[in-house]
Amino acid sequence: MMVTLLISPATQADDRKLVQMPKMMQEHMLGNMRDHVKAIHEILSALSRGELDQVALVAEERLGMSSLDNHGASHMAGFMPKQMGAIGTDMHGAASRLARIAEEGDRLETYDQLNEVTATCVACHVGYRIG
Ligand code: HEC
Repeated sequence: MMVTLLISPATQADDRKLVQMPKMMQEHMLGNMRDHVKAIHEILSALSRGELDQVALVAEERLGMSSLDNHGASHMAGFMPKQMGAIGTDMHGAASRLARIAEEGDRLETYDQLNEVTATCVACHVGYRIG
C-alpha cells in the first residue's frame, strides 16, 4: 500500500505552469471548476439512467458553448495563456457536441463523447495551476 502511494501521480514533481490572476478571478474560476465536476457527475448519473435529454441539458448549459456567458469566460480568457484558453474552448466545444450526440439518443456514442470532454479537463489540469 505504501509503495502504491509513493509512486502515485500526486507525488510526482509539479511542473505545471503557474498562471497568475487577481484573487477574485481565482475564486471565480475555482467556483466554476467545482460546478464542472458536479456537472460531470450529473451527466454520468443521467447517462446511467438512460436519460439522454437530461445529459444534453446539463452538458450544454453547464459546460457547453451556452455556459460561456455565465462563466464570464471572455473576461477570464484575458488572464490565460493562449494554449490554456484554447483548451478551455475545446472543452466548451466538446460539451456542446456531447449535447448534440445525446439528443440523437445513442447511449454508447454519448458515453464515448463524454470521454472527449473529460480529456479536456485533464489536458488543462496537467499543464496549469493558479496557486
Ligand atoms: C482551461 C483549463 C481548465 C479546464 C478546461 C478545466 N479546468 Fe479545472 N482547473 C483548472 C485550474 C488551473 C485549476 C486550479 C489548479 C491549481 O491551481 O492547483 C482547476 C481546478 C479544478 C478543480 C478544483 C476546484 C477547487 O475548488 O479547488 C476542480 C474540481 C476542477 N478543476 C474540475 C474540472 C473539470 C471537471 C473540468 C472539465 C469538465 C475542468 N476542471 C476543466 C483549469 C481547467
